[in-house]
Amino acid sequence: MSSNSKVCIVGTGYVGMASAIGFATLGHQVLGYDINLERVRALQRGVTPYQEAGIDDALEPLLASGRIQFFEELKPAVEDADFIIVCVGTPSQADGSADLSYVESAVAAIVPLRKKHSVLVMRSTVPAGTTEQLVAKTSVEFVYAPEFLREGSAVPDFLNPDRIVVGAMSQERGLRYASLLASLDRPVLVTSYRDAELIKGFSNAFLALKISFANEVANMCDALDADAAAVLSGVGHDTRIGKKFLQPGIGYGGPCFDKDVKSLHHVAGELGVGRELLGATLRVNRSQPKRIVDLLEEEVGDLSGARIAVWGLAFKAGTDDVRDSLTTTIIEDIIARGGRPVAYDPAVRSISVENCELASSAVEAISHADALLVLTEWPEFAEIAPWAIAGHLRNRIVIDGRNIFDPNSMASAGIRYRGVGRKPNTANHLAAVS
Ligand code: UDX
Repeated sequence: MSSNSKVCIVGTGYVGMASAIGFATLGHQVLGYDINLERVRALQRGVTPYQEAGIDDALEPLLASGRIQFFEELKPAVEDADFIIVCVGTPSQADGSADLSYVESAVAAIVPLRKKHSVLVMRSTVPAGTTEQLVAKTSVEFVYAPEFLREGSAVPDFLNPDRIVVGAMSQERGLRYASLLASLDRPVLVTSYRDAELIKGFSNAFLALKISFANEVANMCDALDADAAAVLSGVGHDTRIGKKFLQPGIGYGGPCFDKDVKSLHHVAGELGVGRELLGATLRVNRSQPKRIVDLLEEEVGDLSGARIAVWGLAFKAGTDDVRDSLTTTIIEDIIARGGRPVAYDPAVRSISVENCELASSAVEAISHADALLVLTEWPEFAEIAPWAIAGHLRNRIVIDGRNIFDPNSMASAGIRYRGVGRKPNTANHLAAVS
């Protein structure tokens, strides 16, 4: 069973596509299906619905060899599959709870079509108790197999997991799913459904908490004339804490963290326990975009009529995804304060915010702008020389929401530079602690 299994993937979003390519790379036969016919037809031609380095390149040979196929109908994708893996979305509802309607309709469609001994795997992020409810409703013994994939590196993450978590009714059932990934030789944790659902939720919650913590540290460092990079590097050197996910910035964005923390927070509210840190994580993240625009206003003064160049729209570098990107919140705030934003992102070609101009290059965005705001950490932005930035800006003001520039080089180019938790003359001290 461990190689050459037939694996059906239902839902070809980020998680579904990374999983499809991952399983096919491991030698399995992948059968993909999506309710969106246009998307399926594009995938059949090797065109993915989003930009991610390596995905299109990986897909092409897998399609050519027949290792991956995409189907316009569910039946041929499901009926002969050994494993059917549900990767559909669970978006946030207005009250923060997860909308399970896509999960429910996918499962209802799959169950009558599947062959008898196939394993039905839930991979969508769902609240604790959901898989149990699905089992009760369908009398099918599911497996819950959460993913821990980051956009921009989803396939490498799939092939290099820290752990493989499987929620199952029995060890045997869990290990049957894990056998698909046996060649990765990674720790396998077989748990109850609820425990696996919570491992997924609390992993994202803890990462989001670390980011909110780093942003609080940075904001305090600003007020105390201290340097957050030095402080957080020193703190993160303690291996009990770790250095990762302590990068202050504009706050976390993207389709997972906000949704998953809100969903857990909603459940905690219903239970009357566990709300405090989740609520604080969300609150800090909500206030960080305002803090960035406050920094801008401190430097520029009244924003009325000011032309503000914005570099970056994607929620992080390496993706064209703007879902729950705080760049939108920041741009809307600039407009609300009277500013005139002109944005550029190397991967994003449209913007939903009215009254925000789109530039076709980073340089065009800064030409005749009063100030520059950096919101996404694209490496190509950091490669633009400070003197070139200074030459284009009307007022030489740079607010670096991602701390991508060297404060001293900025100062040498005559730029008034503000990062997040950063002082202009502290770069030299960093060497001692990095
Ligand atoms: C996240 C989780 O990392 C992944 O395990 C889960 O499966 C899905 O959600 P993703 O949202 O793709 O992945 O990106 P990630 O790299 O985690 O970044 C999320 C957001 O946090 C981005 O906006 C990023 O810029 C921000 N971030 C990340 C910080 O502000 N500081 C950090 O130190 C790290």
